[in-house]
Amino acid sequence: MSLLVVRSLAKSLARRVLLAIDDLNLSAGKSYVLTGENGSGKSTLLRLLAGIEAPDGGSGCFEGRPFGWKPYPDWLRRQLTYVHQQPYLFHSSIADNIAYGLRARGVARGERERLVDDALSWARLRHLLDTPPARLSGGEKQRLALARAWVLRPKLLLLDEPTANLDADSRQQTIELLRTFGSSGTTAVIACHDRDVIELPDMQRLDLVGGRIVQ
Ligand SMILES: Nc1ncnc2c1ncn2[C@@H]1O[C@H](COP(=O)(O)OP(=O)(O)OP(=O)(O)O)[C@@H](O)[C@H]1O
Ligand SMILES: [Mg+2]
Repeated sequence: MSLLVVRSLAKSLARRVLLAIDDLNLSAGKSYVLTGENGSGKSTLLRLLAGIEAPDGGSGCFEGRPFGWKPYPDWLRRQLTYVHQQPYLFHSSIADNIAYGLRARGVARGERERLVDDALSWARLRHLLDTPPARLSGGEKQRLALARAWVLRPKLLLLDEPTANLDADSRQQTIELLRTFGSSGTTAVIACHDRDVIELPDMQRLDLVGGRIVQ
């Protein structure tokens, strides 16, 4: 089943056509790795899809419902979560970081605690509950950012280089989390250069070449 279709998505910078994507089609529950050279526009494409940045033109359909970017609709914003390459964490606590989005969505306290608890196990952060977020290692911060996104159960998760700048162990732990998206029904688009992510079983490849997607 199709989750997201995007057509004629265009983005130019001052003197350069960065993206000219005729057709992008994402199926529900699948994971995609978005590859392409440095500067090819991977991060830009994720920001466009997340509604953080506006394209020059383009239209789409999410679960069959048409949308455009002028303006980018709020109902669509609630369906997806974007994780920045260097996620910003609140200083408060790990649990508070994970609960933040749930609170913003008005999820009741009991349910919130249950979901946060689940997410702590999922991201293997429970043993760190008392550690201030600022003290976490790079890999632990990345897992916290993923937990904070995953706890919202978005239909579409957009991740920008989640394994970059991590040591070997942290990378493997993050990759283990990336593998679980399919079974949780989340569609993921992961911008990535990491061989081990690209070669994961069931990972579909989207290659950004000359502003176009080779699918
Ligand atoms: N606001 C802007 N003004 C001018 N150029 C920009 C702007 N934003 C991005 N760019 C340029 O657009 C190109 C695409 O950048 P983007 O960050 O999307 O690439 P990327 O594929 O994510 O690269 P990387 O693999 O290094 O993360 C780059 O050449 C970048 O310098
Ligand atoms: Mg990038």
